[in-house]
Amino acid sequence: MIKYLLVAGGAGFIGSNFLNYIMRKDESLHVINLDKFTYAASMDNIAALPAERHTLVRGDICDAPLLNEIFSKRHIEGVINFAAQSHVDNSISAPEQFIKTNIEGAFRLLEAARKAWLRAPREPKNAFAGARFLQISTDEVYGSLGDKGLFKESSPYCPNSPYSASKAAADMLARAYHKTYGLNAVISNSSNNFGPCQHEEKFIPAVIKNALNGTPIPLYGDGRNVRDWLYVDDHCRRGWVQ
Ligand SMILES: NC(=O)c1ccc[n+]([C@@H]2O[C@H](COP(=O)([O-])OP(=O)(O)OC[C@H]3O[C@@H](n4cnc5c(N)ncnc54)[C@H](O)[C@@H]3O)[C@@H](O)[C@H]2O)c1
Repeated sequence: MIKYLLVAGGAGFIGSNFLNYIMRKDESLHVINLDKFTYAASMDNIAALPAERHTLVRGDICDAPLLNEIFSKRHIEGVINFAAQSHVDNSISAPEQFIKTNIEGAFRLLEAARKAWLRAPREPKNAFAGARFLQISTDEVYGSLGDKGLFKESSPYCPNSPYSASKAAADMLARAYHKTYGLNAVISNSSNNFGPCQHEEKFIPAVIKNALNGTPIPLYGDGRNVRDWLYVDDHCRRGWVQ
């Protein structure tokens, strides 16, 4: 039987880098790429994917009937949720869509996977015994560090923006689905990513663009904040190790 992966948000920055990496690495993999095509998505990001193994569905992760249809038509054994409203500044000026997509969307995906994969709590259907749900989260759920230190999985959640609060809520839902239903749900909390296909609203592309245009470079606060950066390929390579 063909194995399908449902990738939500696969036409955005990290999702498309992941698909370009994993579909070259595993030539048996078929991907359903569910993407709403917000301003952050681009067809260019996914143009090089093998068409015979990549199905693009333009749709919303909050659309429960659509999710149920996708699960009922294909033998989906893995879900990776990259889909999100992801820009912190936008979450401050217009938080509502962040709550909808990042919290309700994660819930709808978890719920669709639960119905498809489990017969009852902690009883996976035989055909889905190895199925896994990966929720792509952020280290921003842990808040800010002082001058020193690092975050661990055991660090207390302390989100500071509507964006990070919405991601933290989705993490709690993924955790609850694991504890309550035994859904094989995993959360990754990566730091800032950078690399190809990143939208120009994000920090590094914005700095490069402004430097090239000779316009002032935007700095957060007094410019002394420290950020940790991860090259997007490193994130993609470590993200789905079986
Ligand atoms: N970029 C980073 O530095 C970073 C760091 C850590 C974690 N993350 C997380 O990684 C994930 C991907 O981030 P990114 O930078 O690639 O984001 P992005 O904004 O570039 O891409 C998000 C994708 O999700 C799609 N999308 C948005 N709402 C949707 C919906 N309702 N239904 C279906 N698709 C929808 C968009 O069209 C887009 O293709 C996010 O969950 C983000 O929180 C990002």
